[in-house]
Amino acid sequence: MDAIQRALDNFRASYNAEPTVVARAPGRVNLIGEHTDYNDGFVLPMALPFDTVIAARPAPGDQLSVASAGFGSAQFALADDPANTTQWARYVHAVGTMLSAEGHVAQPPAWEGVITTDIPPGASLSSSAALEVAAGLVYTSLAGVSLSPGQLARVGQRVENEVMGLPSGILDQLASAGSQVGQATLIDCRSLDVRTIAFPEDATIVVLDTGTRRELVESEYADRQATCAQAATLLGLDALRDATPDDIDRLASLDGAEQRHVDRARHVVNEDARTLEAVDAMEVGDLKRLGELMVQSHESLRDLYQVSGPALDAIVDAALQSPHCLGARMTGGGFAGGAIALVADDGEASVDVFCQELMGRYQAPPEQPAVAPTKLYPCQPSAGAGYVSM
Ligand code: GLA
Repeated sequence: MDAIQRALDNFRASYNAEPTVVARAPGRVNLIGEHTDYNDGFVLPMALPFDTVIAARPAPGDQLSVASAGFGSAQFALADDPANTTQWARYVHAVGTMLSAEGHVAQPPAWEGVITTDIPPGASLSSSAALEVAAGLVYTSLAGVSLSPGQLARVGQRVENEVMGLPSGILDQLASAGSQVGQATLIDCRSLDVRTIAFPEDATIVVLDTGTRRELVESEYADRQATCAQAATLLGLDALRDATPDDIDRLASLDGAEQRHVDRARHVVNEDARTLEAVDAMEVGDLKRLGELMVQSHESLRDLYQVSGPALDAIVDAALQSPHCLGARMTGGGFAGGAIALVADDGEASVDVFCQELMGRYQAPPEQPAVAPTKLYPCQPSAGAGYVSM
């Protein structure tokens, strides 16, 4: 039973009524363009066929009451500081706070409801962004307001930046809010312009969940973001989006620049170029080139940006040994969680064979133990967030 059906069942069982609104928002993978979003650069995500779903109805008074299947329940008042709300409910609370801070809904309405999800949490598949986007859709529907995917995504990004303390970009939220079936989306993270790119029909993206987990907030994400901002300042630029390869060579000789500034900045400049080239490759159906660019991206994230990890490196190496695999790389923030493989789809069998062989070949590295089983999910680009009609 999928997350939509489970949400409906849970709502009916809890309230003995039909929900007023049912909103869904998917997880995502990023095909290429990693750690470029907060540098005003380019990303190329697609939505996954896994959703977080919220079924809700208006509640009297100012208390919100939400139950998340498998994760307990929470009550809070929107007038309170979301910092006082714990765990997953803080995201739901903070979306209400930020909708009002952004001026979209003066006083977000209280509601009650249930949450279900098919997105494996902590696997770099944007389960938090999906929760933010789904919650944004619920609040705005009950307030009678309609937001663009960009506006909805910005609310989620502010939740991460200002409430969760993660200086992340807009990749995850905009991928969840704005993706389309069968398409990858090129996002210009400076202008928020988006362009859909048809995903090749003769390929499948296989999500490779290593079962290792690491919270982004506790990771070195903030360090990478700060180092990039310093590198841009040293170069006299607004953001590394504006840097050229020559600038990176120049950076090395500037006062205050260290090797880490040069390495991180080189990754960002090359990754932006690779992302635009990946779009060209997809548009002419050159899967081989797309795969090569994905591999280069992984190597750069591993060696220059240093955000991969033993499990991600091991599963990418194991995937690349398959003759069916055209490219593989870590996806999302890094350190642990999920990677992706681009697999040639010459009939059902090649993807199945790839998955069987990889499960046999991949060994979890002893230095980074998994906390969940290794799982492989063959996926096609799926629909961005929206309402479920009943
Ligand atoms: C996480 C962040 C995104 C992005 C990626 C890396 O998923 O939430 O904003 O920076 O890492 O590309």
